[in-house]
Amino acid sequence: MLVDSFGRVATDLRVSLTDRCNLRCTYCMPPEGLEWLPKPELLTADEVVRLVAIGVERLGITEVRYTGGEPLLRRELVDIVARTALLRPRPQISLTTNGIGLARLAEPLARAGLDRVNVSLDTLDREVFIKLAHRDRLTDVLEGLRAAAEAGLRPVKVNTVLMRGINDHEAVPLLRFCMEQGYELRFIEQMPLDAQHGWRRENMVTADEILNLLTAEVDLVPDDPGKRGSAPAELFLVDGGPARVGVIGSVTRPFCGACDRVRLTADGQIRNCLFATEESDLRGPMRAGASDEELAERWKAAVARKRAGHGIDDPAFLQPARPMSAIGG
Ligand code: GTP
Ligand code: 5AD
Ligand code: SF4
Repeated sequence: MLVDSFGRVATDLRVSLTDRCNLRCTYCMPPEGLEWLPKPELLTADEVVRLVAIGVERLGITEVRYTGGEPLLRRELVDIVARTALLRPRPQISLTTNGIGLARLAEPLARAGLDRVNVSLDTLDREVFIKLAHRDRLTDVLEGLRAAAEAGLRPVKVNTVLMRGINDHEAVPLLRFCMEQGYELRFIEQMPLDAQHGWRRENMVTADEILNLLTAEVDLVPDDPGKRGSAPAELFLVDGGPARVGVIGSVTRPFCGACDRVRLTADGQIRNCLFATEESDLRGPMRAGASDEELAERWKAAVARKRAGHGIDDPAFLQPARPMSAIGG
């Protein structure tokens, strides 16, 4: 098991497959992109599957989520998912994506064993999309969402980061759209993870504000408040249900105390937290010939050092050197 010094057990592994992306969301990266990891530093598909297998077979990982950057850009994704689905005990397999390319890949991914997807969608307005993501790809995202639902990758969850004066007027229209389509929408507080270091607390649309925007037009009732557990989203029934909406208040309503996550970056580093200041290298030892048992021991030692929380409220807080796109959301 992967246990830290506070007694938390990591069972949810988030694996970044690339730091590249075909969008440029302002809360993530600058329009010109970033300096991407050089190819030799990326884990190969075999290396990814080997580490995931160690996590599942020896360390109690029960859920594997592939992220990026944009994981659909990784050519071997279908193969990686298929090989993950062969592991025993079989983990839950999910994907967090911007949806571009899902129209083509949803079906093959579902057949390979992918269980579900979370898709980022911040706006339904083409002009706003272009302003926000610096690419004209809204139609691709919407087609991707539809394909995911058709391929049975359910529940399809939609992630929306609300930004003041940019898309906060779309909170209710986005909710209505997702309810019509049968997607579970979650609104996310923007976190200080952009490569440009432009995050300001006072610009963040908080969970309280999000709830106020929504309750001006719909009725929200907490969906079994005791159930949140380690899930980042607080869920609410909309107008009596069964439709639900989530609010992920990572900054103002942190869930660090119940965190069950551990991350593997695309270049083979174990990261205990989005906001970790320290990483533990598995790629180097693996390429130097370490056995599965040795890698498992290193991984356990890394998780044991996990800190209590993200510390955003600490006056000494420093934004991590890696941006969101290189950590895996
Ligand atoms: P589900 O299992 O489907 O609920 O996935 P998820 O919500 O954990 O995953 P997703 O990749 O969709 O992430 C959605 C948002 O959750 C991200 O944008 C983050 O804001 C937040 N999040 C994910 N992991 C962490 C984490 O470890 N810490 C914090 N503070 N926020 C996280
Ligand atoms: N704050 C909050 N969420 C973010 N995401 C990307 N950058 C940030 C940020 N700075 C979201 C994406 C995606 C999820 C994995 O993380 O929109 O849905
Ligand atoms: Fe790409 Fe996701 Fe970053 Fe947007 S938030 S630029 S979709 S990695």
